[in-house]
Amino acid sequence: MKKPIYILSIESSCDDTGAAILRNDTVLSNVIANQKIHSAYGGVVPELASRAHQQNIVPVVQQALHHANISKKDLSAIAFTKGPGLMGSLLVGTSFAKSLSIALSIPLIAVNHMQAHVLAHFIMADNQEKPNFPFLCLTISGGHTQILKINNYNSFEILGETIDDAVGEAFDKSAKLLGLPYPGGPLIDKFAKLGNKNAFKFTEPKTANEFDFSFSGLKTAILYFLQREHKKNEMFIKNNLNDICASIQHTIVNILMKKLILASKKTGITEVAIAGGVSANSEIRETLKSFEKTLGWTTYIPKFEYTTDNAAMIGIVGYYKYLNNDFDKENTLATSRLDINS
Ligand code: KG4
Ligand code: ZN
Repeated sequence: MKKPIYILSIESSCDDTGAAILRNDTVLSNVIANQKIHSAYGGVVPELASRAHQQNIVPVVQQALHHANISKKDLSAIAFTKGPGLMGSLLVGTSFAKSLSIALSIPLIAVNHMQAHVLAHFIMADNQEKPNFPFLCLTISGGHTQILKINNYNSFEILGETIDDAVGEAFDKSAKLLGLPYPGGPLIDKFAKLGNKNAFKFTEPKTANEFDFSFSGLKTAILYFLQREHKKNEMFIKNNLNDICASIQHTIVNILMKKLILASKKTGITEVAIAGGVSANSEIRETLKSFEKTLGWTTYIPKFEYTTDNAAMIGIVGYYKYLNNDFDKENTLATSRLDINS
């Protein structure tokens, strides 16, 4: 039998410190330390994120090794997030990974965070089918909104993307207008479950490229709507929170799904996946699933723990790169802006 490959992966691109251990494409442990500190500021504060990563990284890696029941000397390679992300945050994971790879004399693998969100679909999991190439992926997170055509493990074609705010920002900024703490996306989802999604209407934006997205206009429309209603009734938000959340969420889901349907029609591809933190959203998950019946799609919805930032998704890219002997040198730099194919 072939010797298994053990990969330690590190994720530190934003405000979550993650470490995972994979044996080939199976996750043995996936530890994440969330940084609660940012909710008091209504968004991620880069300097605080960097400092928290420094405090978290050693215990998180130790826990990952402990949960996987292996020791450092069993590791075959170390994978880490090279970018995109916040520079101060990326530097912590990058420096840690480089130092440990030198200390253990094992290969270093730099991973693109956005590729990792997509390739999380290739983590071995019970009852979970893997997408067949080529497939479409709607990648939706706090920093990105893209419709991608994935040709193979290292070929990602951007069909469309946001020209301003990412969809996660649209959720979080709308939540902020409603007085909800950061990150507001999951809270909008929670309150929306109790509300009427057709209670309020918001106009959907138009873009020059038919597959592109724009969310900054929606945020302004919501702001003006709330200001208008507040003038008439100071209790408007409090009395209608569920309906407002349901209506905002439904508008966002409609915008995303219309473009995704168009991309499927234009490319003829009916294998469709979603990825990224916002793919945790229940309406997005349910709507996509419903397209199996109505549009004949085969859909791929990631397990909940692999939607928002996590190290297991970095590990799966690391595994495929390891199989290709695609290793990096110690002088590899963290990069805050990184194209999906880099
Ligand atoms: O992928 P991710 O963890 O980090 C980035 O790489 O950006 O995505 C975080 C984003 C945040 O904007 C958060 O509000 C959003 O994902 N999010 C959600 C839900 N869960 C997380 N948005 C809507 N509904 C959810 N259930
Ligand atoms: Zn992410």
